[in-house]
Amino acid sequence: MGCRAPAEPPAELSSSTIDIQTAGDPKETPPPELLPGETVVKEGKAAILFPNANEVFYNPVQEFNRDLTCAVITEFARDLLAERGVKVVVPGEKEKVLVSLTEEDPEVDAEADLTTEKKNGDEESAVVATVGEKCELGLRVLEGLAASGLRSVRFALEVPGLLSITANDFSAKAAALIARNAQYNGVSHLLQASCKDASMLMYEKRGKKERYDVIDLDPYGSPSHFLDAAVQAVSEGGLLCITCTDMAVMAGNSGETCYSKYGSVSIKAKYCHEMALRIILHSLDQRAGVYQRYIQPLLSVSVDFYIRVFVRVFTGQATVKNSASKQALVYNCVGCGSFHLQRMGRRTINGKHMKYSAASGPPVGTECEHCGQRHQLGGPLWAEPIHDSQFVHKVLSAVAGNPSRFGTAKRIEGMLSVVTEELDDVPLYYTVDSLSSTIHCNTPPLLKFRSALLHAGHRVSISHACKNAIKTDAPSAAIWDIMRCWEKMNPVKREKLSVTSPAFKILSTEPSLEACFTAREDANPQSRKRHLTRFQENPHAFWGPKARAKAGGGISTNLQDKRKKFQNKRKITDSSPLKNFPCKRFREVGLGISTIHTHNTHTSIVLCLLQISLFLVFFVVLHLCFMFSI
Ligand SMILES: C[S@@+](CC[C@H](N)C(=O)[O-])C[C@H]1O[C@@H](n2cnc3c(N)ncnc32)[C@H](O)[C@@H]1O
Repeated sequence: MGCRAPAEPPAELSSSTIDIQTAGDPKETPPPELLPGETVVKEGKAAILFPNANEVFYNPVQEFNRDLTCAVITEFARDLLAERGVKVVVPGEKEKVLVSLTEEDPEVDAEADLTTEKKNGDEESAVVATVGEKCELGLRVLEGLAASGLRSVRFALEVPGLLSITANDFSAKAAALIARNAQYNGVSHLLQASCKDASMLMYEKRGKKERYDVIDLDPYGSPSHFLDAAVQAVSEGGLLCITCTDMAVMAGNSGETCYSKYGSVSIKAKYCHEMALRIILHSLDQRAGVYQRYIQPLLSVSVDFYIRVFVRVFTGQATVKNSASKQALVYNCVGCGSFHLQRMGRRTINGKHMKYSAASGPPVGTECEHCGQRHQLGGPLWAEPIHDSQFVHKVLSAVAGNPSRFGTAKRIEGMLSVVTEELDDVPLYYTVDSLSSTIHCNTPPLLKFRSALLHAGHRVSISHACKNAIKTDAPSAAIWDIMRCWEKMNPVKREKLSVTSPAFKILSTEPSLEACFTAREDANPQSRKRHLTRFQENPHAFWGPKARAKAGGGISTNLQDKRKKFQNKRKITDSSPLKNFPCKRFREVGLGISTIHTHNTHTSIVLCLLQISLFLVFFVVLHLCFMFSI
């Protein structure tokens, strides 16, 4: 076996930067020299050679994505390799790994002994897998769309228990850079560069013995055209890590495009970010089903401008039969935003036998029962839990117990804490601000609204996907009753409401319950009490998806123009003379793509003169009117 013997001490990589000259296999060829114009970008334990021009893709804002992926694959490897008798050693990790961080339940801490392990009652020496070392029983990893190879180098240096990493990109420039970066970081023994179309590579490796244990896909925009190959090329119980950055499509701006890519219609709704997660999960499960396979989501997160899902894929004809009943259509009222889910299939259990049949519906009438407006139909969406809470607890406790391991550890801890607090059997959510804006009243404080739901006997939680989200098992009728009670305490001017408006219709009905808004302790989530970094502020101006890399470098003029047009809705005209001092709200961020925001002084003067002349004309007309009236 190629993994480290137990007697050897675990390799510890101390700080967030490493001495790249000495890392990895000492027998390797010396690291390559920097080429003219190249810089070294450091992230995690990796130091990446990077051409200054935009010839190969790199987005620093995605550090969170890469950190989280290292954390997830580490826990996945820990679980999988334990079954193979291999113990993974994570740098900086104490001997005891807490399985649960919840303050109330410290008893569920589990021990992870670094050197020995009890197996079948016998004390048996375990094989130990450390970072940067090839483990013969370890995981085969594919990064299909690797760009500079940063993510793969980080896997090699930060994730223990790996047998091989293939970092693939169809750009020859990117593949050459990946190879140099592997060498520069001393991980060529573990990481091979590949230059193929990602789908073709995965199709080549779909044979049972050649499949990958982990496949990471981080594309420009949509991953939809890689999914068919990915669900086939992942091993039994293997892990798919998938990013989508086509949020406009997935969040309802273009439902028909979403259908063509994911087989699901997205609609504009307050819960659009969780809907996007459920759309990609639906799409994965549907494509896996073609090959008698099915998915099991481990973690699904909506972050900044993208979503990321981590799912395991298994094979099983019997379970695949249940897939239809895991998907649902959503009826969304265009007036008040009330929504109802309609499962696509039905499973009935009769003793040991399962019966599958078509679902019956619809769950709503032709008009919304609350406001009388019509419904939009979205989906199908994945309607089952989007996380495996036990797995998320493991990742959370490993990251929180070893905070120096990742640059974004605080944010991971905050986000995963919220994830563990989410009601996992309740798809989608309302937002208090949209409920109050529907009936034109002021917004109830979140704590009071959650308390009212609890007082009324319902369950409630927040969601990591949206700050003001209310996830609850309360029916929409109960939610509107609570809003009606709130409105009684904070009256709306009824005379100003149109009789056909949703507000008028909703407020014309008397509530059938008396809501109690007294704050309850259990309505305040732990993550809030502990002041965790739950929701991220925008990192800097012009953050977001980055420009595609292009031959010869630079950013495509199209994208540059789009940025100028849409970011914060400010327009800059290149041809106009520019004011030579920066605006207060925009400072140069030194990423090469941001500009100092400037004003056009000339235009301002012209506008000012125009206003003065309009005022003068108005004054003269008024004067003439006065004269004629005399
Ligand atoms: C968003 S970047 C990947 C970023 C990288 N995962 C990271 O974390 O820094 C997408 C990359 O996919 C590559 N790419 C796009 N389509 C591809 C395909 N069909 N096969 C292989 N690579 C592809 C592009 O050349 C680009 O480098």
